[in-house]
Amino acid sequence: MSTKLNVILIFGGKSGEHAVSLMSATSVLNALDPEKYNVFQVGITREGRWTYAENALEIFTNGQAESLNEAFILARNETPYLYELVDGQLHEVTPIDIVFPILHGTFGEDGTIQGLFEIQNCAYVGAGVLASSVAMDKALCKDVVSKAGIPVLPYAIFSRQQIEKDLPAVIESAEEISAYPVFVKPANLGSSVGISKAKNRAQLQDALILAARYDRRILVERGIQPREIEISVLGNEEIMVSQPGEIVPGDEFYTYKDKYHSGDPETAIPAPLPDQVTEQLRTWAVQTFRAIDGAGLARVDFLIDKNSGEAWFNEINTMPGFTQISMYSKLLAYSGLSYKQLIDRLIELGLERKADQGRTLRKFEVDNEE
Ligand SMILES: Nc1ncnc2c1ncn2[C@@H]1O[C@H](COP(=O)(O)OP(=O)(O)O)[C@@H](O)[C@H]1O
Ligand SMILES: [Mg+2]
Repeated sequence: MSTKLNVILIFGGKSGEHAVSLMSATSVLNALDPEKYNVFQVGITREGRWTYAENALEIFTNGQAESLNEAFILARNETPYLYELVDGQLHEVTPIDIVFPILHGTFGEDGTIQGLFEIQNCAYVGAGVLASSVAMDKALCKDVVSKAGIPVLPYAIFSRQQIEKDLPAVIESAEEISAYPVFVKPANLGSSVGISKAKNRAQLQDALILAARYDRRILVERGIQPREIEISVLGNEEIMVSQPGEIVPGDEFYTYKDKYHSGDPETAIPAPLPDQVTEQLRTWAVQTFRAIDGAGLARVDFLIDKNSGEAWFNEINTMPGFTQISMYSKLLAYSGLSYKQLIDRLIELGLERKADQGRTLRKFEVDNEE
């Protein structure tokens, strides 16, 4: 009998970060130990169609996803299975021990797919529904994190409706948050898409209109001249927290182009910071992770004002860029955890979380003793 775990690697996705997911998944696939795991590759197309093939990742990377059979995860008698559709018939591919979703952004990192795994009784790597969706909304996340006592830059949230109906009023209240420059961000996107720095009223107006094309909820916040510090967190109950790393953007801010197209941005591991600041940020990283009910992994990002040295929480990513050379894995490698060990640990944590959920009472009997 095989003692190997059946792992479903899921990648691609209906997200602006589809291509980034394929890069991360290629790294993970190469690091999954064939002695320990049977890996099944499920690709989600940009339109949201689930597909399966033995070498689906290669096929996706070559842009030929359309040729693949459709895939489904469905539980039968509480055991989740992967199925594929062949000539109109559902065929069982394998029972599932755990799903490893390497999906960034919408439908992958926002709790929606996690909900599907929960319904199909499937163990999965990473954050659950709640943590994923809170982390995905930059504004709600700041509410939750600041409640835990962690500083965030002054911000306000506006709806697309408000922006479309009464732009002057939105501009007026945005200007009350802070002097220029301000940052304008769609609440639910990543990879700097739709984000602008506005240095005056005209730029603020353009920035609001742009951001409203990408989301219904728009965040405006005080802009600073930041140092960008990132910390990796790994665990469920017991949490491993890395040293801080620093990113030195090539552009005016850390843009999409900078992240994925102009080669590696300059990084420093560990970030050159006074010990006291390092320890403060590491503590905040763990507190943030707990505040959102994180699980598995997360990268917690901070901004430090270049002039005053003051530090703020910026965002938490529950599925950060995950190649071997991404900041997330490099920070843990610096703490002595290899990429292969990281992958093993994430799978263990996913199984542990499922087992722990299994202990929760779901039926409530009325106590008749009295
Ligand atoms: N308040 C701010 N002041 C200065 N720069 C900022 C601010 N907010 C964001 N930035 C810059 O914009 C980049 C992207 O913003 P971020 O909130 O991290 O969104 P994303 O999810 O796209 O990474 C940051 O890495 C940083 O360079
Ligand atoms: Mg960011």
